[in-house]
Amino acid sequence: MAQYETYQYDVLVIGAGGAGLRAAIEASAAGVATGIVCKSLLGKAHTVMAEGGIAAALSNVDERDNWKVHFADTMRGGQYLNNWRMAELHAREAPQGVRDLEAWGALFDRTRDGRILQRNFGGHKYPRLAHVGDRTGLEMIRTLQDHGVHRGIDVHMECTVITLLKDGDRVAGAVAYDRERGRFRIFQARAVLLATGGIGRAYEITSNSWEYTGDGLALAYEAGAELMDMEFVQFHPTGMVWPPGVRGILVTEGVRGEGGVLLNKEGRRFMFDDIPELYRNQTADNEEEGWRYTQGDKQARRPPELLTRDHVARCIVREIKEGRGSPHGGVFLDISWIRKRLPHAAEHIKKKLPSMYHQFKALADIEITREPMEVGPTTHYMMGGIHVDADSQMSTAPGLFAAGECAAGLHGANRLGGNSLSDLLVFGKRAGTHAASFAQEHGPTRIDLEAAEASVRRALRLFEGNGQPALGDGPYRIQQDLQETMQRLVGIVRTEHEMLSALEAIEQLKVRAQAVRVSGNREYNSGWHTALDLPNLLIVAEAITRSGLERRESRGAHFREDYPSQDLAQGKLNLVLRKGPDGQMRIERRPIPQLPQPLQQIIDEMK
Ligand code: FUM
Repeated sequence: MAQYETYQYDVLVIGAGGAGLRAAIEASAAGVATGIVCKSLLGKAHTVMAEGGIAAALSNVDERDNWKVHFADTMRGGQYLNNWRMAELHAREAPQGVRDLEAWGALFDRTRDGRILQRNFGGHKYPRLAHVGDRTGLEMIRTLQDHGVHRGIDVHMECTVITLLKDGDRVAGAVAYDRERGRFRIFQARAVLLATGGIGRAYEITSNSWEYTGDGLALAYEAGAELMDMEFVQFHPTGMVWPPGVRGILVTEGVRGEGGVLLNKEGRRFMFDDIPELYRNQTADNEEEGWRYTQGDKQARRPPELLTRDHVARCIVREIKEGRGSPHGGVFLDISWIRKRLPHAAEHIKKKLPSMYHQFKALADIEITREPMEVGPTTHYMMGGIHVDADSQMSTAPGLFAAGECAAGLHGANRLGGNSLSDLLVFGKRAGTHAASFAQEHGPTRIDLEAAEASVRRALRLFEGNGQPALGDGPYRIQQDLQETMQRLVGIVRTEHEMLSALEAIEQLKVRAQAVRVSGNREYNSGWHTALDLPNLLIVAEAITRSGLERRESRGAHFREDYPSQDLAQGKLNLVLRKGPDGQMRIERRPIPQLPQPLQQIIDEMK
């Protein structure tokens, strides 16, 4: 048996992006011993990829905004599949989340009279995104990290959790390894909180970095918790497409919020061609009106580039498929055209979009104040995830909480841009509070050392046969084949035939992953780390594919070419997954609880 170190906390937080940090701050403020485990270095999280802002109805720029409008926008964007209680809490509590951040030192861009400035974003009726240029996520992480570190929270960096431990039904701790030296750690906790982010690495083209292999979802699933809404993967419309080494890197929606337009190779603004019925009365049908909206004209309607992400991504795919794309397989995103309208456009662009300016200059040799960018959809966000209680964020496994991207419910079938950062603030805080109460109200846990040792043995088994010439299939090859399969067969547009092929491929990949072996030693062995990530990616890929097959309609981010319309009956249910007693994935159709009358009334009035 390998050696391991043991640690004890009241609340163990797994993941140190916005949600994990916000939760840990709240738990530690409640007076319980709190530890954070994160796969990467502290501060390196996908939160920084939410560049354009935090959605919160502060009504600093447009006094007509309030939580009710934000709630209705979120529900409409999610195609009414959202957990309405989460959408309500989120809209009500997001402004306080922003104010807390500001009190802890976050700097925001300002209105002329000194209030937090808010910008336009897709699907939001009014300018709602509190922002710092195009570096909002970074500012959020910096602020939460400083605040958390000063609270004295223990942080285990570069440490990956491989198994959750249970005490009966209750989740009671975790087994992890440190990436630097390959040593094992066992954590005992009264409550465990998952904030591990998304699953982008299940796809070939993604804005997510190497950490995002669906770990939290797979850990929860293996521990007996339910997953939900797994068919809804968000493809952000604008990622870089050229040069190949940077394909998928995010190009913030803030570019469109500041007036950027999408053009095909004929120079036509193709977003005017298809405006969905649900948004027709809110969307401009000509350039002039769209520009007036960007400039703050309250009578004008928003430009079609600010329709929801699912729709914009599909329009881009249509242009590319029909041969009207850009030279490298994308379309053009042009912010330089505002030179026609604004006297100091170049300075304005550099001030509002400094990261985009440098990103394109350094990586693609493009001067965005003068030339259009080439962009295409990139896997960005997972709407589905761990099924949680709206108020407490506890999963269906007692003692296990989840917040942020790895939790399902708030966003329904499609997330509005900017709602992820507010999600982290609102539900990170709630999860931290409730995990701390759970820890205070429940006695200590007992760690099942046999289960912990079995987990360690499984991890070390990957070294069997080390040093022999034929090690079989490499972990990178399996990961790459999985990414290619998901990109090609379970992407933006799906069919039954393709998803059935994907399921078959996933079954074969599981067999290959079972047999995979690695060489070398345990210090910083990235082949070993990749092999340990594979089961998580495979669980997530299977869950997305099975849910995609089960939902025989098109809704939000899930578009089926063989069922291109919405189906009223299926629009009233969530798909819930769990591991069955036979070890197979079980899927269940679960009706969405009836919306209470006051919330229904808000939606009806906003329509
Ligand atoms: O485009 C963006 O800045 C991304 C924001 C988000 O995903 O919320």
